[in-house]
Amino acid sequence: MEGEKKQVTCYLLFSLSTAVIGSLQFGYNTGVINAPEQKLKDFFNNTWMGRYNESITPGVSTIMWSFSVAIFSVGGMVGSFSVGVVANYFGRRKSMLLVNILALIGGGLMGLCTLCASFEMVIAGRLVIGLFCGLFTGLTPMYIGEVSPTPLRGAFGTLHQLGVVIGILIAQVFGLEVLLGSEKLWPILLALTILPAVLQCILLPFCPESPRYLLINLNQEEQARNALIRLRGYEDVSKDMREMMEESAKMAMEKKVTIPELFRTAAYRQPLLIAVVLQLSQQLSGINAVFYYSTGIFTSAGVTQPIFATIGAGAVNTVFTVVSLFLVERAGRRTLHLIGLGGMAVSALLLTVALLLKHIQSLSFMSIGAVFAFVAMFEMGPGPIPWFIVAELFSQGPRPAAMAVAGFCNWTANFLVGISFPKLEEWCGPYVFIIFTLFLILFFIFTYLCVPETKGRTFEEIARGFSRAPPPTDPSGEAPAPGEASTLAASPVKEKV
Ligand code: GLC
Repeated sequence: MEGEKKQVTCYLLFSLSTAVIGSLQFGYNTGVINAPEQKLKDFFNNTWMGRYNESITPGVSTIMWSFSVAIFSVGGMVGSFSVGVVANYFGRRKSMLLVNILALIGGGLMGLCTLCASFEMVIAGRLVIGLFCGLFTGLTPMYIGEVSPTPLRGAFGTLHQLGVVIGILIAQVFGLEVLLGSEKLWPILLALTILPAVLQCILLPFCPESPRYLLINLNQEEQARNALIRLRGYEDVSKDMREMMEESAKMAMEKKVTIPELFRTAAYRQPLLIAVVLQLSQQLSGINAVFYYSTGIFTSAGVTQPIFATIGAGAVNTVFTVVSLFLVERAGRRTLHLIGLGGMAVSALLLTVALLLKHIQSLSFMSIGAVFAFVAMFEMGPGPIPWFIVAELFSQGPRPAAMAVAGFCNWTANFLVGISFPKLEEWCGPYVFIIFTLFLILFFIFTYLCVPETKGRTFEEIARGFSRAPPPTDPSGEAPAPGEASTLAASPVKEKV
């Protein structure tokens, strides 16, 4: 097809890279809290001492520490839930610009906490940064999806998770004692999120507004055409314009679905259940127990240089995201998700054995190997797949509501793991990862029984697979309106789709 090659222009790559700074920020702030654990605890203790003239009790210290970690996800819950409203009101590009203000506030609060001797500023800063990241977990994938040419939308879609994992790795490297993880510099490590925010604000004005937003939401045909011409690098964008107009017409025909309607409509129940359980499988796999607390985990496993093991986990994480990027269109989502969950369950058992045998010095390597395998298996499926499969399970009308619900569930589960892991570790000791093993087994069974393969299917085909409605006779391929779709088939979905 002529012009197809030219679809990837430098301008498109520039716009995508600018948007992916948002994913990088989410990753950075997920990973940044890990290395300075002890420094933060000492800061809490010293500040407490200064105020009340007594040492903080270990119980209070653990609670305050896990609170600083987990409050990030509370912000994320609110942010991810409001993304639809913000993105439709301000537009995609302006939303990204405005949301960066939150990074400046959050980064500023954390960066100045030692100067002001206030641990409250760390906690407030983490909350604001969570809000910022929650918004970006919706805005970046949305913008990428909307500016990418259709044949490459999937491949570019995975750039979000790649941005996340690179962000985590950067945070781990900067967290080194010799860089910014030192006694004095750790507040700068937390505040560093300001720099990419400023960079993104400088670059965004040179990026186009999403042509889909211009045309479908604002009805600005000329502006949409101009943006497309610049992105694609050729004049004749009539094909893309036609596709967008069809999408716009479909959207007008298919009722926009609100969140309460999403729960009430029988036809959405099954895809919604699958979307939510997949999000839960991502977080309750225990991945962020590693990315928030691995320094502590490695220390209790007898590893002498835990920070390097943590950076190793970040590197493995990045490599396996790239592996998954190449596999996902070949092996399929369902298979990779199953392999990932199964592999994580085995790795979690190995880690438990390693933690039980920590007195044998030579076995500390086993814990490193088990964590690496755990992380690698995560990125095979449970890492990237839940982020984009939700969009695949729903058609245009219910998609934004479904994404808000799914994002909210993801961040809630992220919060639960973040807040409870240190206490669980205190209670269960070396057996703590057995909890995640049990969850992983349950999610494996659910995926095996209920999750359909979505690879190579159009959104409409997938949505139709969830209802008993006959295939549409309309040549436009329009699916029946949600209200008209009959109830769900009782047989397992995987046979139907
Ligand atoms: C996914 C998760 C995130 C996790 C990351 C690890 O993006 O949503 O919570 O920290 O993967 O790579």
